[in-house]
Amino acid sequence: FCSRLILGIETSCDDTGAAVLDGKGAILGESLHSQKEVHLRAGGIIPTVAQHLHRENIERVVQQALERSGVEPSQLNAVATTVKPGLALSLGVGLEFSQRFVRQYNKPFIPIHHMEAHALTVRMLHPIAFPFLVLLISGGHSLLAVARGIDDFLLLGYTLDEAPGDMLDKVARRLSLIKHPQCFTLSGGQAIELLAKDGDRLKFSFRTPMGQTHDCCFSFAGLRNQVTMTIMKQEAEEGIEEGTLLPCVNDIAAATQHTVATHLAKRTHRAILFCKANGLLPSSSPTLVLSGGVASNHYIRKALNIIAETTGLCLLCPPAKFCTDNGVMIAWNGVERLREGKGILPPHVDVCYEPK
Ligand code: KG4
Ligand code: ZN
Repeated sequence: FCSRLILGIETSCDDTGAAVLDGKGAILGESLHSQKEVHLRAGGIIPTVAQHLHRENIERVVQQALERSGVEPSQLNAVATTVKPGLALSLGVGLEFSQRFVRQYNKPFIPIHHMEAHALTVRMLHPIAFPFLVLLISGGHSLLAVARGIDDFLLLGYTLDEAPGDMLDKVARRLSLIKHPQCFTLSGGQAIELLAKDGDRLKFSFRTPMGQTHDCCFSFAGLRNQVTMTIMKQEAEEGIEEGTLLPCVNDIAAATQHTVATHLAKRTHRAILFCKANGLLPSSSPTLVLSGGVASNHYIRKALNIIAETTGLCLLCPPAKFCTDNGVMIAWNGVERLREGKGILPPHVDVCYEPK
């Protein structure tokens, strides 16, 4: 099985990614094209623009991953591609390309769930067994689940409104961080993390969401509203117009990041207690896995590490380049599915994408 070769393709949002892995999970070649700068300048992801950029880049990105790996398409054992969830127009580009590719080279096709891929990436880097608790936090999702098998997830909590990355991106936009000399190439979450380093989180106080709700779900829209109101108040007090950088931008970033981290930590703590009470995790060396774009935030990692340590769990978090979207995680999910013989389709089967 180790000599199997799998091509993974990711286009669910704004990154065009491809990678070739062998059956052990060794990365033989990879390529990634990020659309971040275009979307930053536009003030958000416009689906038709994302689709256009995926179309422009997918051929080259896949070619590059194959060339870097020294693998010919005919040598591949399977092609794995994200088919859900994500932006419909973006998913469509990867799927159409992949279906043409597998038909041309007569290869098995493995449709991939983007969140399953985020959850399993850690197993490419550490030999951890099921079950484990996973917290996935990205621009499109926040969820807590017990991973019981490669396609068996017990969902404990999810966001009731927006995802933490989406919220941080919107706050960053409202603060016009794109105009900040240190931030103009950074995503909203990255900009907030950077500015928070020089901020005093105690200058502003935001309520942690859902304090009275005794479940493991998340909510970030109310927090965004609290932050927006504070920004408006500060603008009024300073006599500054919307679109101009506030002098207290670092403090607002620090307080926002702190409240996001606190909310994530509290819900994860509850989930850990629930898992323990119901025997959902192994008694010896239980693991908490943290992944998704927002997991690259060091402040949030630290908060979750405290929760893990105090409850006796070991926190594992892939390095930032594997937390954000990439082709490697899709190829690895393909490896896991190929190994278990799950969800492998012949090349001629028509597959639909599912945005939700
Ligand atoms: O997983 P990802 O690459 O794409 C989605 O599937 O959404 O996550 C992108 C999100 C963006 O919202 C971005 O602002 C956020 O992850 N992000 C961060 C950091 N780096 C990226 N959020 C907080 N701190 C960071 N360092
Ligand atoms: Zn993602």
